[in-house]
Amino acid sequence: MMFARAFPLLRPLIGSIDAEQAHDLAVRALEFMPVPACAPDDPRLKVQAFGLDFPNPVGMAAGFDKDARVPDAVLRLGFGFVEVGGVTRQPQPGNARPRVFRLQPDDAVINRYGLNSSGMAVVRARLAKRRRQGIVGINLGANKESADRIGDYVALLETLGPHAEFVTLNISSPNTPGLRDLQGRAFLEELLDRALEARARAKLSTRVLLKIAPDLDDVQLDDIVDVALSRPIDGMIVSNTTTARPAALKDKVLAKEAGGLSGRPLFRPSTVMLAKTWLRVEGKFPLIGVGGIASGTDALSKIEAGASLVQLYTALIFQGPALLEEIKTTLANAAPAEGISALVGRSARDWASSAC
Ligand SMILES: Cc1cc2nc3c(=O)[nH]c(=O)nc-3n(C[C@H](O)[C@H](O)[C@H](O)COP(=O)(O)O)c2cc1C
Repeated sequence: MMFARAFPLLRPLIGSIDAEQAHDLAVRALEFMPVPACAPDDPRLKVQAFGLDFPNPVGMAAGFDKDARVPDAVLRLGFGFVEVGGVTRQPQPGNARPRVFRLQPDDAVINRYGLNSSGMAVVRARLAKRRRQGIVGINLGANKESADRIGDYVALLETLGPHAEFVTLNISSPNTPGLRDLQGRAFLEELLDRALEARARAKLSTRVLLKIAPDLDDVQLDDIVDVALSRPIDGMIVSNTTTARPAALKDKVLAKEAGGLSGRPLFRPSTVMLAKTWLRVEGKFPLIGVGGIASGTDALSKIEAGASLVQLYTALIFQGPALLEEIKTTLANAAPAEGISALVGRSARDWASSAC
């Protein structure tokens, strides 16, 4: 795999330039460098979830391909699915630069992009041109200046839903003031009712998922799961980045930057939240586990904590795309004959009661 082989050589260069420039470079490379399709996946990695067949359970998380420039190249790297976006209804520039910081000694990133997006019209045009293959989801976010945030999600779902296997209602980005308030019970009920009505009206088969923050207390989580279970949503993604700053962070200077923290320090809190969600959902819909996965063992722990599928982003910044192969090999070796799905949730109780 040329892209994966080139990464170790480019690593010092990528690490030395501004984090946003490095990211743009990676997206450009995928856009313009041919990525040959990788070998077919081990059949034990196959997962059925949301009525879809995933060749393997490892996805690229939202935020890498915000404007849907390279979904097919990401799939060719060997991901089982890709979530593009977050996409907003109107184009918006996001926050001022610099807005993403690598905490190298912590294997972590803080970002406050603020949902920079080319807007749904551009993303729709891009996705409409591609040949439909593989599993592509679209992460939806409200505009910062929107007077009707729920209206934004509805318009996004109607416009982009026909072009994706799933859409994610992202109500957990910490960088759009007030967005996380949509996780409150009354807002969430209205959001889900209006979004799911719009899906039914448009006769869309697109799955609708809800992505939550790792910074919720048990009562807030109870409310969210209660509302989600009483409506026909298809699943949840746990979790987004955290606004917390664990005391153990080594880079004390960059730790002071505002924004969402991702990567290794997010692994435990997001896995505890995942397990708590799984115990509440009781198998009524599947969960996607995301947050701090940096090895095959981490991915396996997410599955055992309750994830049917996993996603990652930050560890790829530090380790490059070869990490994906390591994760898939570990999962295939751990999978029983009936497949990796047999392991979902088997350590959820332990995780849910462990400290973050
Ligand atoms: C630079 C960056 C941009 C992100 N943008 C989005 C986004 O637009 N929408 C979203 O729901 N999550 C976004 N995320 C969160 C990731 O999808 C993921 O939930 C989080 O980073 C935890 O996974 P990780 O530790 O493997 O990175 C972003 C994360 C990073 C690092």
